Amino acid sequence: MNKGLRNVLHWLNLWHMGIMWVIAILLSYFKLLFYSYPESYVLSPHSAFTVNQESGPVACIITGASSGIGKAAAEAVALKGYHVILAGRSMASLYQVAEELQRHHKSIMVEVLVVDVSSTDSIIRFVETVAKLVDDKSLSLQLLINNAGILATTERITAEGYDSMIMTNYLGHYLLTRLLLPILQRSRVPARIVNVGSFTHRCVKGSDHLFSLLSKRELPKNEASLKNKAYQIAHIYEASKLFMVMFTYELHHRLCTETPSMRITALVADPGIVHTAIFRELPRWFSTCIFLLLRCTWLLQSSEVGCRAVVDAAFAPLGCSAKYFFGGQGRVLATSPLSCNKQLANDLWILSERLFSDTILGTTIGGKNSVL
Ligand SMILES: NC(=O)c1ccc[n+]([C@@H]2O[C@H](COP(=O)([O-])OP(=O)(O)OC[C@H]3O[C@@H](n4cnc5c(N)ncnc54)[C@H](OP(=O)(O)O)[C@@H]3O)[C@@H](O)[C@H]2O)c1
Repeated sequence: MNKGLRNVLHWLNLWHMGIMWVIAILLSYFKLLFYSYPESYVLSPHSAFTVNQESGPVACIITGASSGIGKAAAEAVALKGYHVILAGRSMASLYQVAEELQRHHKSIMVEVLVVDVSSTDSIIRFVETVAKLVDDKSLSLQLLINNAGILATTERITAEGYDSMIMTNYLGHYLLTRLLLPILQRSRVPARIVNVGSFTHRCVKGSDHLFSLLSKRELPKNEASLKNKAYQIAHIYEASKLFMVMFTYELHHRLCTETPSMRITALVADPGIVHTAIFRELPRWFSTCIFLLLRCTWLLQSSEVGCRAVVDAAFAPLGCSAKYFFGGQGRVLATSPLSCNKQLANDLWILSERLFSDTILGTTIGGKNSVL
């Protein structure tokens, strides 16, 4: 494709993304304000879903804890008494966050572990380290917050041949969750998985070709060959977040029906629009304009406010599962009709499982093979 045309398409794509995402967030707030959802899951002081340290420390893993929503959620969760494992791909950034948190709150327990959720090998090494840590420190892994995510503006292919945004935002977390399930299952207290989704999942309207985003690509001969291709930034991000919502519902379904004794719940948290580094790959002037516009409309939140949906989901009462938290105060919303398509969610699960079947079925990390 000629360079001029590619640039025009790229900018059209970005502006289209900006407009569609503003419509999607407005729709979410509209639903929140004008539709009455009877449910609101605020943690009561008597809820069973509180940290019980009597039989040893209770741990929480947060991916992408080195900045933004993940960092804010880590602080909130650590203040509730969890032993927090900050997980991310940069050891230096994680240590910086750990030091900062410990400087502000002397009594909290934080630990850092490196994981690149776009790499299968790194995920396996991470889970092995977690299994050892849990045994050595008699930890009870109760909470997994799958938060890491990127908004990639160019196509990048991982070593295993997946689109990097799809792998980071969904596939990596699918694999991580599957491998951690045996450890979560062994938790002395009922465990919970919180997947960070986004209102942008509402922009995906049809399921045609959706699963082709999960297929393996040929590794590029050189970087230039990738740069020459137009990359569907918005669609791939939206799809990755839709996959996270469907994955949560299907995980809940399988945990309830296939292993009812597991006592693991799965929830989605949508932070809304939050001022973080997520737009780091977009031109600076463009993200500054977007943030300025959003600030004028009161839609833009700080990480501390944006992480409330994540914290609400993490501490919602015991029986709460397969809910989509949005807007704080323990409120939940209905998700898009496509995300509630049970057949599609089942297909997504089977396809994802097939991609990692060797890893999932072959591993005995955590003392047992895959529990689902
Ligand atoms: N900001 C929003 O408006 C918004 C709205 C809805 C949903 N979300 C979702 O919220 C989550 C957190 O995003 P954020 O806004 O807080 O952005 P952020 O500040 O950029 O944080 C993203 C985090 O993910 C980590 N990460 C990226 N790729 C990774 C990888 N391959 N392996 C491990 N960690 C990786 C980043 O680590 P590095 O520092 O190493 O890059 C960073 O800690 C994402 O899933 C995002 O999609 C954000």
